[in-house]
Amino acid sequence: MLLLPPPFLFLIFLILRTVTPLLLSPISKDPTTQLYTLSVYVQTPLQPTTLHLHLGSSLTWLLCNNYNHRIPCNSSLCATFNSGGACSNNTCSFFPENPITRKTLLSTANLDTLAFPTSDGSTQGPLVQIKDFVFSCSTAQLLQGLAQNATGLAALGRNNLSLPAQISASLSTTRCFALCLPASTQSPGAAIFASTGPYIFNSKIDLSKSLVYTPLIVNPVADTVISYNGQPSDEYFVNVTSIRINGKDVPINASILAIDQDGLGGTKISTSEPYTVMESSVFKRFVELFVNESLAFNLTATEAVEPFGVCYREGDLSETRVGPAVPTVDLVMHSDDVFWRIFGGNSMVRIEKEGVGMGLWCLGFVDGGAHRRTSVVIGGHQLEDNLVQFDLDSNRFGFSSSLLLQATTCSNLNISNFVNNRI
Ligand SMILES: *[C@@H]1O[C@H](CO)[C@@H](O)[C@H](O)[C@H]1NC(C)=O
Ligand SMILES: *[C@@H]1O[C@H](CO)[C@@H](O)[C@H](O)[C@H]1NC(C)=O
Ligand SMILES: *[C@@H]1O[C@H](CO)[C@@H](O)[C@H](O)[C@H]1NC(C)=O
Ligand SMILES: *[C@@H]1O[C@H](CO)[C@@H](O)[C@H](O)[C@H]1NC(C)=O
Ligand SMILES: *[C@@H]1O[C@H](CO)[C@@H](O)[C@H](O)[C@H]1NC(C)=O
Ligand SMILES: *[C@@H]1O[C@H](CO)[C@@H](O)[C@H](O)[C@H]1NC(C)=O
Ligand SMILES: *[C@@H]1O[C@H](CO)[C@@H](O)[C@H](O)[C@H]1NC(C)=O
Ligand SMILES: *[C@@H]1O[C@H](CO)[C@@H](O)[C@H](O)[C@H]1NC(C)=O
Ligand SMILES: *[C@@H]1O[C@H](CO)[C@@H](O)[C@H](O)[C@H]1NC(C)=O
Repeated sequence: MLLLPPPFLFLIFLILRTVTPLLLSPISKDPTTQLYTLSVYVQTPLQPTTLHLHLGSSLTWLLCNNYNHRIPCNSSLCATFNSGGACSNNTCSFFPENPITRKTLLSTANLDTLAFPTSDGSTQGPLVQIKDFVFSCSTAQLLQGLAQNATGLAALGRNNLSLPAQISASLSTTRCFALCLPASTQSPGAAIFASTGPYIFNSKIDLSKSLVYTPLIVNPVADTVISYNGQPSDEYFVNVTSIRINGKDVPINASILAIDQDGLGGTKISTSEPYTVMESSVFKRFVELFVNESLAFNLTATEAVEPFGVCYREGDLSETRVGPAVPTVDLVMHSDDVFWRIFGGNSMVRIEKEGVGMGLWCLGFVDGGAHRRTSVVIGGHQLEDNLVQFDLDSNRFGFSSSLLLQATTCSNLNISNFVNNRI
């Protein structure tokens, strides 16, 4: 056996501890809309740019003035945008969309550099540049309703034009990205691109080890303003088969959770909804069972505050490390033992009741109305301080449940100050 003096052992230890830097970009929460933005560098020279984070579409767009990085109609690149592109004034064009107002307009297709910092989870590394990033230029009128201060949209959808897809194609890496949405408006979380892990946080734990997986489902019918015959949806659907509260099934007809041939029903994930939205019949039973199960916690509901279905007085709830003590909500996926457990920190929203000076905890799910296109839309509040992974190569979705269980949060990636750093 070879005996090494302690300094060498220490060196070997250091080498083993070295982690591959991750390509990542901060995600901030906007206090006005409760929605999220992604910070990137784009254009020439590179400019720090804040974009509304959206999972469900595949064309990134931003405001650009007097901008010349256009794509001619007769280029081979324009020809690859078979369904997404158009030709206008001999310039390849797109229809960038606003997913909140569902407005669109005809605008130029552009090609320029996109860049991201790298990080080993605690310190920032060099920028990685994607030279030929395809996006669209738009005008300020399309920004309405998006997260405040966003000057465009970061599209993270399934299509090969989406921001993560272009990064993975350009760097020839795995088509996989992860999101960690911050619960705090003060310190950002992060998006991690082109990696299946390890995802090492400041606390030195590898969060990719704690993911549970379920298949990603394709909705056969796109729900964009401009869509083409036979075009599937770019949104991420998962196979939620039942919803449990405190271990009991919400009594709903399971067929409403499946996607039919017209693309109706099912469960998708959206960062453009602050709270999970449920079709009325599901919502009604969900709130009813939650109220019933809360009685076991000695909780009596008080008057609900819009848009929520049930609220409790703050003083009636005890605190745990995963938020207020309330019945757990489980989203059961494709099999009884694969479920996404939602604890109080992600199910309940703290609000200040006006005029009374009293704090309330409300169940953070909202009624989307009857006969909605999608039965359940898992929204931002339920995703915060959870790590979620979209792995297109393995066609699966990974989720961690609350990171508070592991005594960490999405803000512990700690790359908060990079935007102000020199390029
Ligand atoms: C938006 O920009 C304004 C002005 O720069 C700034 O004061 C405000 O904090 C920003 N809001 C967010 C949510 O970043
Ligand atoms: C595209 O059209 C322009 C003029 O409109 C021409 O100069 C150029 O050579 C054409 N390029 C290709 C690849 O056909
Ligand atoms: C994207 O997909 C379309 C259709 O599937 C294909 O024609 C095109 O070449 C692809 N583009 C890239 C950049 O891979
Ligand atoms: C057509 O494109 C040229 C540059 O390619 C631009 O100068 C001109 O303003 C455009 N015309 C219109 C109507 O957009
Ligand atoms: C569930 O809904 C489907 C479609 O609406 C219906 O055909 C079926 O009978 C319902 N099942 C139950 C148990 O109500
Ligand atoms: C809630 O409890 C009431 C009274 O026990 C019962 O009638 C109702 O069916 C329950 N609701 C659900 C969704 O379990
Ligand atoms: C609810 O109240 C009863 C009677 O006061 C008590 O015995 C029980 O332990 C309480 N349960 C919880 C979960 O606090
Ligand atoms: C969803 O899961 C159920 C139960 O495992 C299965 O029967 C169904 O085929 C799955 N749906 C899809 C679209 O994979
Ligand atoms: C994040 O980084 C800053 C500056 O490098 C440091 O002061 C701060 O303590 C770090 N925060 C965490 C949670 O590690």
